Amino acid sequence: MSFARAITHNSVSRLSTTAARNVVSRAAVMSFRGQHTLPELPYAYDALEPHIIKDIMELHHKKHHQTYITNLNAVESTLSSLQAQPQTPSTVKEIISLQPAVKFNGGGHINHSLFWKNLTPAGSEQAKVVKGGEFERLVERDFGGVEGLKKEVNAKTAAIQGSGWGWVAYNKSNGKLEVVTTKDQDPVLAPHVPIIGIDIWEHAFYLQYKNVKPDYLNAIWNVINFKEAEERVKVSLILRALTLDESSKAG
Ligand SMILES: [Fe+2]
Repeated sequence: MSFARAITHNSVSRLSTTAARNVVSRAAVMSFRGQHTLPELPYAYDALEPHIIKDIMELHHKKHHQTYITNLNAVESTLSSLQAQPQTPSTVKEIISLQPAVKFNGGGHINHSLFWKNLTPAGSEQAKVVKGGEFERLVERDFGGVEGLKKEVNAKTAAIQGSGWGWVAYNKSNGKLEVVTTKDQDPVLAPHVPIIGIDIWEHAFYLQYKNVKPDYLNAIWNVINFKEAEERVKVSLILRALTLDESSKAG
């Protein structure tokens, strides 16, 4: 019996203790209680060397991610002020004009917060695909194995024009793992749930790999946190199983 089929309302809490904790902690991190703040990295800036050098990690985290957060806080503050005013056509137009900044900086904050958790030192226990796990099962089924997955992710991510992200995502509608790309800082939206994200903005690799994107894309798989991917897949399977269960009751 598959993991998803094994899930019932009674077994969710038993099967998903870790996964559910992760959902709660992520919701807390991304909550809108006041100002957004830069999350700490779960490893040192030089921990991903030689695959991603310290200078890249430090700049990427302290400068680039921080800038998205600073700008997001600023635009949300402006929005709050506007929403507190009488909603005249002029006010509404001002609110509308801020939506691109919300999307860009909000997406930048969400995507990078996922990205840091996505990575782990090469050779660590987290850098190994969980044997017999749900991620491995879906990758075998949908890509014929991890090498097939890497090949498709790298090809589609390298083909992005300009800046963006390559993702391994779980499709809640059809239950499959799929490779999707987003431009600029657009986040992954429903029905897809991000499992692994790869930042293909030049700030993520240029200091080390210059313009050779394929070298960066090949190297980053050495520091992908497959344990995190396993947890994200488990959460996705649980949520899909619960949704299907609710749908069947409603029908
Ligand atoms: Fe980035």
